[in-house]
Amino acid sequence: MSLPPGFLDEIRTRVPISRVIGKKVVWDLRKSNQARGDWWAPCPFHQEKSASFHCDDQKGYYYCFGCHAKGDAIKFLREADGMEFIEAVKLLAAEAGLQMPEPDPRARERTDRRTRLLDVTEAACRWFRLQLQTGAAADARDYLARRGLDQAALDRFEIGFAPDSRTALTQALRDKGFDESLIVEAGMSARPDNGGAAYDRFRDRIIFPIRDGQGRCIGFGGRAMDPNARAKYLNSPETPLFDKGRNLYHLGPARAAIAKGQRLVVAEGYMDVIALARAGFEGAVAPLGTAITEEQLHLMWRVSPEPVIALDGDAAGQRAAQRLIDLALPMTGPGRALRFVILPAGQDPDDLIKAAGPGAMGALLDQARPLVDLLWARETEGQVFDSPERKAALEKRLQDAVAKIPDDLTRNHYAKELRSKQWDLFGGTSRRVDWTPGKRKGSARPSRPVLPIPATVSDPQAAGSLLEGASLLICALRPELVAQMETRLERLSPQDPDRAALLFDLLGQTQSAAGQRGLETLRRDAHLGLTPAVIDTQDTETVAAILGNLLDRLEAQRAIGTELARAEAEIQGEADEGLTWRMQQIARARHRAERPELEGGMDLNEDRDALSAQLSEFVQGQIWRKPPRR
Ligand code: UTP
Ligand code: MN
Repeated sequence: MSLPPGFLDEIRTRVPISRVIGKKVVWDLRKSNQARGDWWAPCPFHQEKSASFHCDDQKGYYYCFGCHAKGDAIKFLREADGMEFIEAVKLLAAEAGLQMPEPDPRARERTDRRTRLLDVTEAACRWFRLQLQTGAAADARDYLARRGLDQAALDRFEIGFAPDSRTALTQALRDKGFDESLIVEAGMSARPDNGGAAYDRFRDRIIFPIRDGQGRCIGFGGRAMDPNARAKYLNSPETPLFDKGRNLYHLGPARAAIAKGQRLVVAEGYMDVIALARAGFEGAVAPLGTAITEEQLHLMWRVSPEPVIALDGDAAGQRAAQRLIDLALPMTGPGRALRFVILPAGQDPDDLIKAAGPGAMGALLDQARPLVDLLWARETEGQVFDSPERKAALEKRLQDAVAKIPDDLTRNHYAKELRSKQWDLFGGTSRRVDWTPGKRKGSARPSRPVLPIPATVSDPQAAGSLLEGASLLICALRPELVAQMETRLERLSPQDPDRAALLFDLLGQTQSAAGQRGLETLRRDAHLGLTPAVIDTQDTETVAAILGNLLDRLEAQRAIGTELARAEAEIQGEADEGLTWRMQQIARARHRAERPELEGGMDLNEDRDALSAQLSEFVQGQIWRKPPRR
């Protein structure tokens, strides 16, 4: 249904969001300011005693400072009550005293047709259930009892029976006044090709009614009791009501359960869902006799960010899981994840719960593996990677798979995770080095990271500015060094215009007002206060070494940014072997920089007399005499 423009805004202005939310929470009246429409309560979306959940009537918005749940009144009803969008709108419209808009005539006609089809399926559903009480259903009742379904379960899942007759249901529905064409269109009977009378589609089968998210009966699944039956399960055909790829069995109850904190579990069959729900896993759903579709994934993600897929532990179930990996990769991202439960060979959730109990099922669900693990297992299991070609082939397959992920962050994390799995598989840490470009051949472990990152710096930007300032100041104090360092100094290209002018003056032996200003600023900089004194006491060779070291560090500093950008670019395109290793080095260097005490270093940013002190230290330790880093 399309809503007229402004309809939702009208609802929002008429219904204070606190009135909607107040039905679900107990306001903390001391913290709230009722007059201002400013409300606080313990959050309904996560367990807490304090009131971190806030809602604001002016803005019509809620936000939890604990779990970051947020949204408007409609979102609240969807998340807290598991309502559909349109249901929530209807409820709020009623609350606001607003008339829901009339649908257009064509839509109205379709709706009317659907309503009549639903009358047929609901009537059939009641009829099937009645048939299960009759003498003709004795075998069916025995069968269900053998499968462990008691009366409560039969009622809860509305299980019925289709007798072994070609006409009974069609006749019963005609007697209720439904046209044969409507009965056929609802999928309850079929017309033979030779134009004869319509006959019942479901015969001698246990019947599982299938309801959509709003609880409307859209179709049926019928299980044969005869093990030699042509098809074990027969489902309703595609009808205006029944779109197999866009619905899930048990979705309505599952959604309600998930709103109460259960997890969404996706099984293969009706009996699995029933067994799961009865064992306490009420967030169970299943596709409707076909492989899981894209639409069904979207449907799942609207209910839960991380559905757990519990496919059968047989070959077909495993194949279905493999197909699902390929289907899900181009769609996955934050809030759209999947986890997989690997069931013991030959068992489905129904078998497992019967054999080992709900506790065993729960334990398996707790150990569900993320999609990336399944992808890895699929590409590596049972294979030997004992040649460069095989390794490369694996890497290519993984890259192709990862390239399908649309979300940048997710794709990067997949690449990283798969890379680290490869290193574990191909022989652990000691071999990584051989792949790193520019490394000395044969060294088991690199003695230095690729990048000489200043270990003592925590905020790269501030530290870089300090290093740059010190270099310029030294050049101003010892202009004779400028020519010697010319090319390196040109690469400095300071962001600050006064510093840029100073550098320009130094290189061209000119003088400008801006350059003078730049120099004055450097002279007044408290962190550089001791520099002139230190420099004055040293000979030219020593000062040149200090300046060289500063420039080394500054260049290294800037290379971090470049390296990260390059690493990211590589993840998108052809990644080279050293990539993850370099990423790890960068991460490690950052970590070290954040915790300088681990390295016995000094944090330039925390310790604000930094650079001058460090310069003295350099002079005393003759740091420039150590062998070059690269
Ligand atoms: P299974 O054969 O795994 O069913 O098919 P199940 O749930 O374990 O059933 P029981 O325990 O033997 O009764 C899983 C699903 O695949 C569809 C059905 O939707 C079924 O629930 N299916 C299976 C069919 O549509 N047709 C078939 O012939 C078989
Ligand atoms: Mn089964």
